[in-house]
Amino acid sequence: MAIEDRQYSIQISKCVAELAPSGIRKFFDLVAGMDGVISLGVGEPDYATPWHIREAAIYSIEKGYTMYTSNSGMPELRKEVARFLNDHYQISYDPLGEILITVGVSEALDLVMRSILNPGDEVIIADPCYVSYPACICLAGGQPVRVDTRIEDNFELRAEKIEPQITQRTKAILLGYPANPTGAMMSRENLIEIAELARRHNLTVISDEIYARLVYGVEEVCFSSLPEMKETTILLGGFSKAYAMTGWRLGYAAGNREVIAAMTKIHQFTMLSSPTMAQNAALEALKFGEPDVREMVEDYNRRRLFMVKGFNEIGLSCFEPKGAFYTFPSIKKTGMSADDFSEKLLMEEKVVVVPGTAFGQCGEGHIRCCYATAMSDIEEALNRIDRFLKKHEA
Ligand SMILES: Cc1ncc(COP(=O)(O)O)c(C=O)c1O
Repeated sequence: MAIEDRQYSIQISKCVAELAPSGIRKFFDLVAGMDGVISLGVGEPDYATPWHIREAAIYSIEKGYTMYTSNSGMPELRKEVARFLNDHYQISYDPLGEILITVGVSEALDLVMRSILNPGDEVIIADPCYVSYPACICLAGGQPVRVDTRIEDNFELRAEKIEPQITQRTKAILLGYPANPTGAMMSRENLIEIAELARRHNLTVISDEIYARLVYGVEEVCFSSLPEMKETTILLGGFSKAYAMTGWRLGYAAGNREVIAAMTKIHQFTMLSSPTMAQNAALEALKFGEPDVREMVEDYNRRRLFMVKGFNEIGLSCFEPKGAFYTFPSIKKTGMSADDFSEKLLMEEKVVVVPGTAFGQCGEGHIRCCYATAMSDIEEALNRIDRFLKKHEA
């Protein structure tokens, strides 16, 4: 047979082939090409990165800082991350060996899972949770074990619900608070109960604190700063949300030397180093970005209160989120599934929301709405949802 007549055929790896596509994707595909759509769907700030941060990156390019950095990240940036964690949470990390600069929290999540999991190892996650958690665990050969969280518990993960799910194979608990999609925060007491549980069962805790700076009137608790938790917690932090830097792709992991060394090993073979310009921008953000964070948080807070009040007024009972930039109102009274509601709302009123089920079965009966959106758009979206509800009243 001539070479050009051969049929190309390749088998995608079983693990990737079996991975369910993200439930969020479908809605972005539906929106493509539609006019007049208001999106409460995307999970990112509507701000551009503060100018002085952008400028720091521009200067770094002008100065010719265009090469790779150390695999672990620029030493000045690691030092600044350590300073930040010490100032904010009174926890001390050695920039030489306990901190790795990554391509967003996304890469850090992937690295930590690949570093600690053997095939079949189990990782406890909340349901609902960020879509990448189960995917990263599966791609690393592990098994996600979902533990229900309910509105009655303010969507907090409770130690007593985790404990019965622990088996010989349980390796870690992955926490993500403030939470995507619910906006829930964990109280210090509940975190301490989880810390005690993890110690009793010799489990690693991975704490994704990407939204840690976006909290409204509640205490920001860093999990690794809890008594005796530093050695067994891998803290994941980032720049995307607090500094409006989603496109820069930068984050970090801080924790146990052995785990950070393992993560660095994978990172050096697969990534070499994180983008140099983004590292220079992040250095500026940590050194001088605090007023920007405060200003954005105040603004998100105004929109948060407006959206929560708005949903309650139009008859969708809305749990008050204390962190991140999402509301998670209940649509149970409509009798529609979250998926149906979201699709019909998009088709009939051109408002994008994400069905709670995209984040797990416990998200049924809820929709995720991001309020990092212009106030006028939030107002118009609420009007359209109100009209939609009236039209579909039983
Ligand atoms: C809970 C959570 N963790 C991690 C990420 C990804 O963060 P990064 O932009 O740093 O990769 C997101 C993005 O939406 C998120 O919601």
